[in-house]
Amino acid sequence: MVGILGGTGALGSAIAQAPMTRGGVPPERLVLGNRSGARGRFAGVAGLRVMRDPAALVAASDAVILAVAPRDAWALSLAAGARPVISVMAGIPLAALAGIAGTARVIRAMSSPAAARGLAFSPFVAAPGATAADRALALGLLSACGPVEEVGSEAEIDVFTALTGPMPGFVALFADAVLWQAEAAGVPADRALRAVRQMFRAGGELIAEGPPPGAHVAGMIAYAGTTAAGMRAMRRAGLDRAVGAGIAAAVAAARALGTPPG
Ligand SMILES: NC(=O)c1ccc[n+]([C@@H]2O[C@H](COP(=O)([O-])OP(=O)(O)OC[C@H]3O[C@@H](n4cnc5c(N)ncnc54)[C@H](OP(=O)(O)O)[C@@H]3O)[C@@H](O)[C@H]2O)c1
Repeated sequence: MVGILGGTGALGSAIAQAPMTRGGVPPERLVLGNRSGARGRFAGVAGLRVMRDPAALVAASDAVILAVAPRDAWALSLAAGARPVISVMAGIPLAALAGIAGTARVIRAMSSPAAARGLAFSPFVAAPGATAADRALALGLLSACGPVEEVGSEAEIDVFTALTGPMPGFVALFADAVLWQAEAAGVPADRALRAVRQMFRAGGELIAEGPPPGAHVAGMIAYAGTTAAGMRAMRRAGLDRAVGAGIAAAVAAARALGTPPG
């Protein structure tokens, strides 16, 4: 039995959806926890329990996924004991997580709401107290959400909290900037939206499966056509600096969540 505290929230419910849709896990093998008792997207799912008492959820579970907002986590005291606890919360470091979870068997992961479609990227790092079986469990549970990788440091988790945690995240920012320019150039808004959606779908698929992004850029610069002119102008205008400043700010914001309030 896997318990997901915060399992009806944006991320928790996506992670709960994934094993039921793609992992062959029946709803009876999951228990979700929240304060309200609301069932959210699982209103019609028979066999799936929602519990309001975190202690009861822990007692009913062999492993716990922690997916509440960081500000709500500090007040929790889970007494998980011999159960592994996997956090997908932004910012909260392994050391603090062990205190919240009441076990040294803690794993810190990141994922995204794209998990519901099997499209999340889910890195994780285990505390020294986590066993090989705990790491294998994390790998198995998160695999239903999309690709999973065990990484070497918590610092990497903070980076992925900024990069791949929010989805569509920064991709939406760039798409919106492109859309705005298309409209400014006189393309009707509805057609601009259809075109930009298709542009990002096609670009996303080519980048996901083809050569790395830098190879595409180098190829287009070498071709020296219209796109090369545009790419050079974007870089001269500070694209790389802007992306660097934005990601640094997001990583810093993620790390700031790792300090208890007050
Ligand atoms: N959403 C994202 O895109 C995303 C991406 C990466 C990481 N994350 C991380 O995922 C975590 C959850 O974020 P979210 O966006 O999914 O938040 P959310 O939609 O607000 O969901 C949080 C859930 O936790 C429940 N909850 C809050 N306090 C609780 C408590 N003390 N005991 C039990 N349940 C409690 C809430 O339900 P009740 O109000 O009914 O209690 C709610 O359903 C955060 O730590 C965030 O950093 C989110």
